[in-house]
Amino acid sequence: MKRVIISGIGVVIPEASITNEQLVESFNAWVDKENPRREAAGEPLLQKSDTAFIEYASGVKKRHVLVADGILDPDRMAPRIPSRDDDQLSVMAEFGVASARRALDDAGLEPGDIDMVICAASHHQRPYPAISIEIQNALGIPGAAFDMGLGCSSAAAGLHVAYNLVRTGAQKRVMVVTPEIITGHLNFRDRQTHFIFGDASTAVILEPIGDDETRPGRFEVLDTRGWTQFSNNIRTNFGFLLRDGQDDTSAVQMEGNMIKQVGNKVFKEVTVAGHRFIVGFLADHGLTPHDVRRFWLHQANARMNAMILKLAFGHEVGHDRAPMVLERLGNTAAAGAVIALEENHRDMKPGDYGLLCAFGAGYSIGSALLRMM
Ligand code: COA
Repeated sequence: MKRVIISGIGVVIPEASITNEQLVESFNAWVDKENPRREAAGEPLLQKSDTAFIEYASGVKKRHVLVADGILDPDRMAPRIPSRDDDQLSVMAEFGVASARRALDDAGLEPGDIDMVICAASHHQRPYPAISIEIQNALGIPGAAFDMGLGCSSAAAGLHVAYNLVRTGAQKRVMVVTPEIITGHLNFRDRQTHFIFGDASTAVILEPIGDDETRPGRFEVLDTRGWTQFSNNIRTNFGFLLRDGQDDTSAVQMEGNMIKQVGNKVFKEVTVAGHRFIVGFLADHGLTPHDVRRFWLHQANARMNAMILKLAFGHEVGHDRAPMVLERLGNTAAAGAVIALEENHRDMKPGDYGLLCAFGAGYSIGSALLRMM
């Protein structure tokens, strides 16, 4: 088996951002328009959203979005992302290519040095041709590419696959690209979820290293692991059979078929599962949480991460140990833990351990144990 390193990481955060205040103002304007209709129809009235609740409950203050236009318009409440011709680079591939280029630059590599692209994201723009193949084609990468998804654990699951492909020598260098345009599938009219997500794209390159070699400033990947357990508590019903369940097949019904979650159940169940997973994974390597210099956890909820770490450590740990990017970016789905890693590793010393651990829909957990060289 070969030793494997992360030779490059690329992150792209879109420029446009939306604050909680802006989001709540537009949500509440929509409620004011919608409730008279509901009242007249005898339907249950909607409750307003609240910035203080959002900040306290989730820790999110603002989020960056690929396209802001349309999201705050109470008559639309969805980004306006014009569809493109089939011969143009698709929106998701373009976002992926941007972070892939940054990862190549970071690694000092050319596209020809990579021989596999995995596009691992929580949503893919279409089933085929695979977005990964479009990214591969746009960059001029030889070899093969495929798409995979595991909710917010997608990037970690992609790393799990890539690590084992490189370790066994099946592939030379694998790039895991995670373009998350999650606002494109978010129901901005749902009080429970409208504030949670933001967009971002990441890419990570894995490659082998010789037994006696070292690359200062880079991480060796010591192991990766996945865990899943079925749950309906985070779910989207959007899919290719949607039309067929409707009487009127002329337009696909989006309402009720976008992301929904039972946030408080997810919070409790994933906190317990996440803590157990982390302690067990580390123990299998003769480590405890105290041995790990830094945790790059999934960026879904600040309180949830604090609780997972408190259970693992037996006391509270600060952001130096477990950095958060959620406050300014929102939950960027599978991209979040990779962004936390990219932004928070340059101060680490040779020999320091780090644990990337993402969790989310499925339920799913994916993790990579790293050591700074
Ligand atoms: N504004 C004001 N009040 C709101 C609100 C909003 N936007 N959204 C929900 N509420 C209300 C609820 O209706 C509820 O009211 P009630 O007590 O009268 O019934 C109350 O606030 C508490 O709701 P709850 O859902 O229990 O809040 P919470 O503390 O669990 O926080 C989340 C909600 C979503 C922030 C939190 O559960 C969470 O982040 N969970 C984990 C999500 C996650 O990890 N997902 C994984 C991957 S994507």
